[in-house]
Amino acid sequence: MLSKVSKRILVAEDDDKFREALKHVLEEQGYAVAAVGDGRSALQLATLESFDAVITDIRMPEMNGIQLLHSIREKLKIPVILMTGFSELAETHEAIEMGAAGFFAKPFRQEDLLAELRVLFALPSEPQVRSDTPDENFCRLRIDDFVQGRNIQFDIWVRLAENRFVKIAHGGQDLSIDRIRSYKSKNIQYLYLEKSDFRKYVGFSVTVAGALRKSTIDKSRKMNFLKHTGEVVLENLHLNGVNEESFFLAKDMIESTVAIVSDEDDLFSLLTLLNDHSDHIYAHSLGVALYSTVIARELKWTSATTRFKLALGGLFHDVGKKELGREIIDRPRRDLTAEEIRLLESHPTRGADILASIGSIQGDILLIVKEHHENLLGQGYPLGLKKKQIHPLARVVSVANEFCNLVIRGPSTVPLSPEQAMQRLKTLHVGALDAEMILALGRSFRL
Ligand SMILES: [Fe+2]
Repeated sequence: MLSKVSKRILVAEDDDKFREALKHVLEEQGYAVAAVGDGRSALQLATLESFDAVITDIRMPEMNGIQLLHSIREKLKIPVILMTGFSELAETHEAIEMGAAGFFAKPFRQEDLLAELRVLFALPSEPQVRSDTPDENFCRLRIDDFVQGRNIQFDIWVRLAENRFVKIAHGGQDLSIDRIRSYKSKNIQYLYLEKSDFRKYVGFSVTVAGALRKSTIDKSRKMNFLKHTGEVVLENLHLNGVNEESFFLAKDMIESTVAIVSDEDDLFSLLTLLNDHSDHIYAHSLGVALYSTVIARELKWTSATTRFKLALGGLFHDVGKKELGREIIDRPRRDLTAEEIRLLESHPTRGADILASIGSIQGDILLIVKEHHENLLGQGYPLGLKKKQIHPLARVVSVANEFCNLVIRGPSTVPLSPEQAMQRLKTLHVGALDAEMILALGRSFRL
């Protein structure tokens, strides 16, 4: 328990039991508390007596929490903390603009409330204060990326400002399609998960062993790399004209994936190595990751886990090229000797081996890497697999790979427009690439 604090707090909450519980917790911490059941009474009392803070529910009779916030901010300048539920996300945004001093999520957790008060009164903080939470601890997801109707196991946050997040829902609450629609209609596009929760959300378990190791790679180097990635994605790939919604959805998934990867020293080293080895390979890999997740969206594969696997598989699909010299990877295939072609064609197997050696990367990600040059006619490499034998995620990455070979400038190629590239995919790769997936990619360009 904190030492006695001589601050006066006004609580406005229409639920009797909840109001009493709140009052009890605050008094136990040494605060002096007045509690009322609606916004109008709260405003009247706040005008008559002096308070250091107001804590209010949002939905109340007579005068709701937002109206109360508005009146108090205008007339009395007392800081107001709002209690928010997941169903009140839109109002939360309104409250941010109106200058609410803090938020805590319902169902009520004592530590969240006390953390808000500590920030407000600048009391010595305990570890869970969230006003100083670095942005890099969170992964951003478009609201569309949340699987609707599913019970979300993790805390969900909204970003208020740089390094400041508010928890708007605790794990275990349902996220219905109606709620998602109502947020979208209010122009709320992003929700945030803590990185550790994002890993669980997408089923990424590689860190189970790695978490015990302490990171040895310089943090500023990682941050620079992440920034670089954002720039490459934006500047080099958006020019290709995929529709905005698909693009941003995919871009968020790629950025979150790269952020997760950057926490893993082994994976991060591989990624920077790709970038150092050849700018082209890195831009190409980001492109393949991006368009693979775009295709998944068009195929209505809504699972965030699936898109994450595609993003990760896309990022690392060519990692087996890291040991090949520039004289092989930068030259057109027709100019290579038979031995050089043999080496080049070993990169899918080599890449899968490299990733497998890192630890528990899921098997289907390894298959993406290993099978991204197979083709449906059985004429691909390394194994000459046929359609049904090739992993569906690898088939997606194959299409994205061929597309990126055409639209992203390479060492010896001039990029085509998406229209030209789609035409080329449809004519040159008849039967070899999955036609349904080519069509899905075309839809994202409205072609
Ligand atoms: Fe490749």
